[in-house]
Amino acid sequence: MNLGSESTQKNSEKSALVASPGPPGITVEKSVEFSYDELANATDEFSMANKIGQGGFGSVYYAEIRGEKAAIKKMEMQASKEFVAELKVLTHVHHLNLVRLIGYCTEGSLFVVYEFVENGNLSHHLRSSGGDPIPWPTRVQIALDSARGLEYIHEHTVPVYIHRDIKSANILLDKNFRAKVADFGLTKLSEYGNSTLQTRLVGTFGYMPPEYAQYGDVSSKVDVYAFGVVLYELISAKEAIVKISEDTTETIGLVALVVITCFPFLSILPFNLKLL
Ligand SMILES: Nc1ncnc2c1ncn2[C@@H]1O[C@H](COP(=O)(O)OP(=O)(O)O)[C@@H](O)[C@H]1O
Ligand SMILES: [Mg+2]
Repeated sequence: MNLGSESTQKNSEKSALVASPGPPGITVEKSVEFSYDELANATDEFSMANKIGQGGFGSVYYAEIRGEKAAIKKMEMQASKEFVAELKVLTHVHHLNLVRLIGYCTEGSLFVVYEFVENGNLSHHLRSSGGDPIPWPTRVQIALDSARGLEYIHEHTVPVYIHRDIKSANILLDKNFRAKVADFGLTKLSEYGNSTLQTRLVGTFGYMPPEYAQYGDVSSKVDVYAFGVVLYELISAKEAIVKISEDTTETIGLVALVVITCFPFLSILPFNLKLL
């Protein structure tokens, strides 16, 4: 719901930086467009000290902007009209278990501004050597939170979304270790981007179901399969791709590993384990 008057617009621009109000699906916010100068100021000119991540989409910087903590993704692409239209839609999709898109900037290249999620990504926490391992009840909660975020974009948004890049690096943990799914909508956005980026963005090896890897068949099952791999990561703390043995560089997906170890008779069936 957009109430329209000038003062309401100003207030709603501000409110886009605070916790999402009201029940999911009803929103009074307006998309926030930032200037390049404001983002550069907030990140100390995109300094290395502010850099908190690097992924397939570009670099991520910590920022303090309009009094709020944020993560700014500097993407290696220009924004087309459709891209900006889609970004505006995404700023209105709110759920406790989705990383909130606050706004964007299209000056120079494309910048996307997200709420900052304090504890970084799940992949790091599962495998970093420092600190205590994540307790089992927290792992179960992370699985439930991620499933709820996914269910929301699959079934309750208009239009519905398929994430296509579900992986432990795209599940972020807040200060209480509650999970939020990151980057949803970006794969769809990439369709409006340049073609080289598009081919890099379709997913991550080890998380793709065979029918998607082989034929590009897209459905929400792509996310469900990847979520299954994340569940196995939560249980085993292994990476989605593991080395077959110490003295080889050959790798295998976690799903294939499960098939070989738990159901060895299945590996004689005529399907290609390398696709799992
Ligand atoms: N909103 C955010 N809050 C905190 N950290 C973030 C946020 N977005 C991204 N990051 C960090 O930056 C990393 C890289 O992000 P991203 O570009 O999405 O790459 P990828 O998903 O390929 O790892 C993430 O794995 C995460 O550690
Ligand atoms: Mg990500």
